[in-house]
Amino acid sequence: MGFKVAIVGATGAVGVEFMKVLERRNFPVDELVLLASKRSAGTTLDFKGQPHTVTELTHDSFAGCHLALFSAGAKISREYRESCVKAGCLMVDNSSAFRMEEGVPLVVPEVNPQDAKRHKGVIANPNCTTIIALLALNPLHQAMPIRRVVAATYQAASGAGHAAMEELKDSTRAYLDGKPFTPHVLPHPYAFNLFPHNSAMLDNGYCEEEMKLAKESVKILHDPSVRITGTCVRVPVLRTHAEALNIEFVRELSVEKAYELLRKAPGVTVLEDRAKNRWAMPTDVAGQDNVFVGRIRKDHSQPNTLDVWVVGDQLLKGAALNAVQCAEVALL
Ligand code: A2P
Repeated sequence: MGFKVAIVGATGAVGVEFMKVLERRNFPVDELVLLASKRSAGTTLDFKGQPHTVTELTHDSFAGCHLALFSAGAKISREYRESCVKAGCLMVDNSSAFRMEEGVPLVVPEVNPQDAKRHKGVIANPNCTTIIALLALNPLHQAMPIRRVVAATYQAASGAGHAAMEELKDSTRAYLDGKPFTPHVLPHPYAFNLFPHNSAMLDNGYCEEEMKLAKESVKILHDPSVRITGTCVRVPVLRTHAEALNIEFVRELSVEKAYELLRKAPGVTVLEDRAKNRWAMPTDVAGQDNVFVGRIRKDHSQPNTLDVWVVGDQLLKGAALNAVQCAEVALL
């Protein structure tokens, strides 16, 4: 049996990837409903070689649907959750709206697939930085418990949506042409620049993105003993996040063992050539399903601690791929 699948935010950076991932993974789609704002109604997008017309999202959009993949922001997710669930349609939500809600599973299928099966109508897709980090952290944590992680992230424009990706291109062109450019999506000039993450600042001095990484990881791992602190930074890269993770374990985990664990970890590829000083870069990883790791080394400044370099496509494993995998676990 196939499914009637709705994509909410179909014209967005993640929405377009939802379609490609469904097609590539041969998800059994009988009918596809593409939903966006009124602005995009009437435009067409291709799925399996056929044009599909985008329609305006309304509360009736989910009639007869089995699955809705949402990526239109937290406000839309909150507004349409009830209509979606009442229609008997599983909501897999890429926004932050319900991630920390009790009873809503927050799932990375390589880590906690069992949670996806316990959904009550909604599965939350974790924050992109969290997913990418956990693909590397979980296999190590299962072998040797992690006490603390210090993360520095290098985050791409795609995390802020399609308009931010366009702003990166346009501002780079303007910079090279010596023309003035006023940013309207991101808060600061992006070309040849970087800035601490643009998510909301909190009273504790962290930004939301940094606290998402800390809190969501604990929920997904079901382990409050794992403490994470981070500094999240937006860098002028289009669609792939990189993360430098300093990982302290309760006892020593050797570099060799860490490589061995990550080489066989699902969804992970080790890419490096020490002799050539060559490690995974966003240009290697954009468009790839797997999260790439390398540069594993002993932290010389502290016992029981490793440094690991992790790179993942924000739009794929960080968003669309993970969401479709959640739907696969729940429905197939
Ligand atoms: P639209 O293209 O019609 O504005 P991104 O994450 O790349 O910024 O994309 C956001 C997605 O959310 C787009 O598909 C956008 O559609 C959609 N969206 C934004 N506002 C609404 C809305 N009010 N109703 C439905 N979809 C919306």
